[in-house]
Amino acid sequence: MEITSGSASTAESCEIVAGGPCGYVIFGASGDLSQRKLIPAVFSLVKSKRVPDSFFVVGFARSPMDDELFRIKVMASIRQVYGDIREPEIEDFARRCSYVAGSYDQDDGYLQLKSKLDELGSRLGTGGNLVFHIATPPILYAAIVSFLGENGLVQRGQNRAPFQRVIVEKPFGRDLESAHQLNKSMLEYLTDEQIYRIDHYLGKETVQNILMFRFANQLFEPAWNREYIDHVQITVAEKLGVGNRAGYFEQAGLLRDMFQNHMLQLASLVGMEPPFDLSADNVRDEKVKFMNAIRPFAMDTLDRQLVRGQYGSGKNDIQALKAYREEEGVFTASCTETYFALKLSVDNPRWKDVPFYLQAGKRLQKKLTRIAVVFKKVPHSMFSHNWQGPAPSPNSLIFDLQPQQGTSLFFQAKVPGSKMCLAPLKMELDYRQTFGAKMDEDYSTLILDCMLGDQTLYWRKDGVETSWKLLSPVLRQWESGSQKDNERQLERYRAGGWGPEAGTRFIEEDGRKWIIG
Ligand code: BG6
Repeated sequence: MEITSGSASTAESCEIVAGGPCGYVIFGASGDLSQRKLIPAVFSLVKSKRVPDSFFVVGFARSPMDDELFRIKVMASIRQVYGDIREPEIEDFARRCSYVAGSYDQDDGYLQLKSKLDELGSRLGTGGNLVFHIATPPILYAAIVSFLGENGLVQRGQNRAPFQRVIVEKPFGRDLESAHQLNKSMLEYLTDEQIYRIDHYLGKETVQNILMFRFANQLFEPAWNREYIDHVQITVAEKLGVGNRAGYFEQAGLLRDMFQNHMLQLASLVGMEPPFDLSADNVRDEKVKFMNAIRPFAMDTLDRQLVRGQYGSGKNDIQALKAYREEEGVFTASCTETYFALKLSVDNPRWKDVPFYLQAGKRLQKKLTRIAVVFKKVPHSMFSHNWQGPAPSPNSLIFDLQPQQGTSLFFQAKVPGSKMCLAPLKMELDYRQTFGAKMDEDYSTLILDCMLGDQTLYWRKDGVETSWKLLSPVLRQWESGSQKDNERQLERYRAGGWGPEAGTRFIEEDGRKWIIG
């Protein structure tokens, strides 16, 4: 597909040239997320000049390290992600980075951090603007914010120049109660406008595009309802297993890890009503309304609404793969789910009787993040005699988020020839092909938005709590179940396959199929 001439899509105006002067502080700077995602994302902002020269990065963590050693780590993580970058660019970025070692629960480190920030701020002219990014284990989130507040690094309400904003990683709480408590303690030191609860899926270009697709095209919105749509399905399949995150994952499980945040956000973008405009609060109001309209899980028939699975051993094209229970750090009798499939009903006029099926799994055959909107069959088919092969499939609109980024529309067309034969056709927009390699990394988009004070792509307090309200009863039931009950409910699947048989049956019993091919 081509961009038509005169389109703004390729113009400079589609890029924000630069956020304002600012210091960016990472808590958990020696950790995996910081090295793999945050540092490369900020490097990309600097490289593309979307942050000005008056910008610096400070890492904070417990590991003893000086600036030099931190810079070596910073350079290594950039090389790892962007293999083809010139060394002087990496070195130039590393010079903007410094490090403070300290405990998260003692004043000393914060006081040292404060004097470092004051010194860098006045030397580089950042005007005291600060973004703190908390990428530590979740147990530390509340303490870090309170130490920031008590030591005068943040002040409640300071959201305009000089601004102090705090990005908090997921998971935000582990159930409704803890999320509520975390909100409450953070709000003692910050206003909600200063809190940026991150969901990196919202930074993905194709996720943002769902809104444009729905609301900037007259074509689809009139058909975006129960009259025309049969069901919606969302698949988030990962090839990777738990890796070295067993410590976290054993406590979390996949429903907390993927459903409560990323997948509910995707469902909300597909299902929400049109906001009045794209302002942060109007968009988030509509998402929360959608989440509130999701019918609570029926706890006495949960088995019919939700399948949970765990990977056993298996293999992919290259190697043999361990079972989840054999992974390092996993309890040998663990019943933690690494797969789930579930069905949501939405109690509003637009979606009444239109199910939303969601499935996610680790150690599946390939990486695939896909939303499929499947339309109803035509009410009367005059072509039934002309059909060759299997029954015609209904129209579907597919948003592929990963690894390909694109949108496809499937429809029926006549096969050339003297006979009247029909065949399904795919009309495809491939983002990379169409827009080139311009697409941003999710974290770069989100960090820049925080610097600019735009919360549209971040969770608001009520959204987080609504999502936990939906999930918490399920988690409570599972977690209070006996080992025997949990074993019985856990569906095993082969690592490297497409998840448990029960996950396939789950949707097929409703006469539908996962669209994963
Ligand atoms: C994270 C989860 O939020 O998202 C991980 O904690 C998961 O378990 C990851 O692997 C998936 O992100 P992406 O961008 O690779 O789809």
